[in-house]
Amino acid sequence: PLTARVNSHGCLEIGGCDITTLVQQFGSPLYILDEETLRLACQQYRDGFKQYYQGESQVLYASKAWNCLAICAIVASEGLGIDVVSGGELYTALTAGMNPEKIYLHGNNKSRSELTLAIESGATIVVDNWYELKTLVELADSGPIRIMLRLTPGIECHTHEYIRTGHLDSKFGFDPNDLDEVFTFVSQHTAALNCVGLHAHIGSQIFERQPHQDLAAVMVQWLQDAAKYGLNVTELNVGGGLGIRYVESDDPPSIDEWVKAICEVVQTACTQANLPLPKLLCEPGRSLVATACVTAYTIGSVKVVPEIRTYVAVDGGMSDNPRPITYQSQYRAVVANKMSAPLTETVTIAGKHCESGDILIKNAQLPKTEPGDILVVMGTGAYNYSMASNYNRLSRPAAVVVANGEANLFLQRETYQDLIRQDCLPERLKK
Ligand code: LLP
Repeated sequence: PLTARVNSHGCLEIGGCDITTLVQQFGSPLYILDEETLRLACQQYRDGFKQYYQGESQVLYASKAWNCLAICAIVASEGLGIDVVSGGELYTALTAGMNPEKIYLHGNNKSRSELTLAIESGATIVVDNWYELKTLVELADSGPIRIMLRLTPGIECHTHEYIRTGHLDSKFGFDPNDLDEVFTFVSQHTAALNCVGLHAHIGSQIFERQPHQDLAAVMVQWLQDAAKYGLNVTELNVGGGLGIRYVESDDPPSIDEWVKAICEVVQTACTQANLPLPKLLCEPGRSLVATACVTAYTIGSVKVVPEIRTYVAVDGGMSDNPRPITYQSQYRAVVANKMSAPLTETVTIAGKHCESGDILIKNAQLPKTEPGDILVVMGTGAYNYSMASNYNRLSRPAAVVVANGEANLFLQRETYQDLIRQDCLPERLKK
């Protein structure tokens, strides 16, 4: 995070708060969100579009990265809209006070009740497939529903197979070869469907600019096609996907460079095609929140396997950060109470779950550690809390937001009572 610094005690501070003190106050493990870093990323996207794009623009936060009231409220106050992918995310965004005109509902299998909630609240629905398109025609009894169409552009990018979404063999979106049929259908159902735009998303944690530039160019062609069907399609959403630096070798472009590259392609393509500039949208998740958050853990047992490795165990693991075990993701860590100590050890950071693969970091370079030290894993704002589980019945950690020396709880730590809240013991099993 931007505000990270080492204080006079050799301890790591974020947002003016000493992490070791935060752990004493709020417990361990603890997610710590730096408000300034999150706000700055919002501003970089928002202001980038204002600077490089002559048309209208709107940045949406892909809230699957971390959907909760406080983060929705922060991004909304920076003028961002939001991308939600379920009734639950939609409900959270609405409860946080997000303007429904800035809410876009995604998903490849939205339920009728999710669609109804979106329609009633006035959110835009990003239609994924024929089944949904036809369902919406049935649901539209109070005037046309504001929709966008999601297309699968067939663009390959270099990222983990599980998080690639733009190639043709994807469960998401319409096949561009069906565009003719889709536009015809939409133009025949204008009483039910108000198609305002087109959407595509090619994948996540992407370091090159070229795939998004290719995407933007293809999408402008689709816009041109829409005009032939008499559809007034004026919004273009190029999705999210900009990567972040988890470890030294990751080399993503900056937000500013990424935004500039996309704006230039869209403007050039529209000028060439003699099209008015569409309202340009994008929906980053990871690059908005990932670097704004760290997770603080307490170190416990240390196991030395002679001549092979040393396992340093922490009080969380795959339940609060499932990314290493799911995608072999890499992270960086420091010891918050020993920031000035030399990095003399190479260790494996293990979680506390009953699963040998529950390893957070292989080969972390740390100072000599002992039980009670506070290990801080960097860049945990995206797809950590939102993918967290209660595996082994661990409680989800608390989360605090820090700014100007103040720390405020925004997600409570789960208690044992919380863990059994949904349990019901059928009468005949009681003795
Ligand atoms: N828009 C759509 C339609 C998406 O499917 C996604 C991510 C985004 C935007 C935001 O992408 P971002 O800017 O965050 O890259 N759980 C995985 C990532 C899954 C991404 C799914 N879709 C991980 O932990 O790496």
